[in-house]
Amino acid sequence: MEENNNNKTTNELNAKLDELLLSQGLAKIKNPAAESQKPAKPRVCVVGMGYVGFPLAVMAAAKGYEVFGLDTDLGKLKLIDQGVNIVKEKYLDEILPKVKINTLHDPRPMRPCDIFLICVPTPVDEKYYPILEPIVNASKTIAENMKKGVLVILESTVNPGVCEEIIKPIFEKAGHLGGRDFFLAHCPERVNPGDPKWNVTNIPRVLGALDETGLKLAQEFYQNVIEAPIMLMKTIREAEATKIVENSFRDINIAFVNELAKSFDKLGIDIVNVIRGAATKPFAFLAHWPSCGVGGHCIPVDPYYLIEKAKENDFDHRFLRVAREINNSMPHYTVETLQEALNKIEKSIKGTNIGILGISYKANVSDLRRSPSLEIIKILKDKGAKLHLYDPHLTNLSTVKNIEELLEKSEALILATNHLEFLQIPVEKFKDYGIKVIVDGKNSFNKDKIKNLGIIYKGIGR
Ligand SMILES: NC(=O)c1ccc[n+]([C@@H]2O[C@H](COP(=O)([O-])OP(=O)(O)OC[C@H]3O[C@@H](n4cnc5c(N)ncnc54)[C@H](O)[C@@H]3O)[C@@H](O)[C@H]2O)c1
Repeated sequence: MEENNNNKTTNELNAKLDELLLSQGLAKIKNPAAESQKPAKPRVCVVGMGYVGFPLAVMAAAKGYEVFGLDTDLGKLKLIDQGVNIVKEKYLDEILPKVKINTLHDPRPMRPCDIFLICVPTPVDEKYYPILEPIVNASKTIAENMKKGVLVILESTVNPGVCEEIIKPIFEKAGHLGGRDFFLAHCPERVNPGDPKWNVTNIPRVLGALDETGLKLAQEFYQNVIEAPIMLMKTIREAEATKIVENSFRDINIAFVNELAKSFDKLGIDIVNVIRGAATKPFAFLAHWPSCGVGGHCIPVDPYYLIEKAKENDFDHRFLRVAREINNSMPHYTVETLQEALNKIEKSIKGTNIGILGISYKANVSDLRRSPSLEIIKILKDKGAKLHLYDPHLTNLSTVKNIEELLEKSEALILATNHLEFLQIPVEKFKDYGIKVIVDGKNSFNKDKIKNLGIIYKGIGR
């Protein structure tokens, strides 16, 4: 009898502790091994097997879930079937051969799944207006091919309101009742492709849901799959807003240093040295670096989701708009910088052989999305430059076979992506191949060494 009372007290205490942690937004880390009497792990379907969905699918499979991966891109599904690490993340190389992902092009076989993860793109159109079709289509596909009682988690980045105003009504229209037939949660992905340290398993998460049950179910899923803390948000809108704030924070800070770079170019101050100096302050300063532009699927896109949503609600996000304008101007500024440097040797862009080092949007990856290099290439092409392109991660788009051939054919260079291969070029080689002008779009080369060789060097703000 006393033992029963003790058990009751322990259970009550545990329930209280759960409640307390929940109220503070802190997830209680569960030990899955201790939950021996739990039924078999649920079936998971990842909808959208890209940079975000693929690693998540692999990690869920590694943790024992039966995983389905739905995508509209047949070519991608074939590669996954062949065991290709489609996102080229090193940490997945070892795990991939040990797991099975059931790829799907036809959504019907996903009906037995218990958890759906939406990881489809959220781009903007040419006027920077959010394109929500992939989210709408993915939600409709799930709503039409699900059993009752499923958990749906949105991982894609969206503005506050998308879960409640767009996704939820799609499920309701298909005849499903929220909180009974489906539970909707949002756990924005924060992966940083090519990052050797941070990946899907160790990046902390924020999680929001429409109701407490959805929150608990989603929390349990992530606790099983990732090894990082999960902060529970009070509302699903808070979770949506968190991700946009993170990326807007980065965009604004980069815009600030890009603007400083333009100003310091006129003042003759090396911005890199100034930022290094400022970064010696051990608090309240966070170093960001200017460059030839901001690329990728997130930073130059996500702020527009908030800008447009705020506009609908009669609020003008002036600060975000200005940051986007400044960062969007950087490829043009890089070309202007090149023209100024060429002026010193009385050359114009038209007709000059210009070598572009790097096409992808950031170092050591092949991702091309919104790459500033592409914008620079377009502007230079329109101005009549003779272009030579090399990217070791995009050899199919390169016009030369290697760095040497690029140097051989070029009079001027733009470093548009700071791939390791480029940073390892001994600067004397530039001289040996007769390079006269270098525009360092990533401020990554040794300015003094290059100048000492008699080559015209120009960085962004240095
Ligand atoms: N790439 C990143 O570094 C990153 C990081 C954090 C968050 N995000 C966010 O995650 C989301 C996904 O980004 P991503 O980089 O993985 O995109 P991605 O383009 O690499 O992958 C998305 C996949 O979804 C598929 N798809 C599109 N519509 C579909 C549909 N209706 N049904 C099934 N599949 C569909 C596409 O074919 C593609 O394979 C975006 O919202 C993005 O902002 C991306």
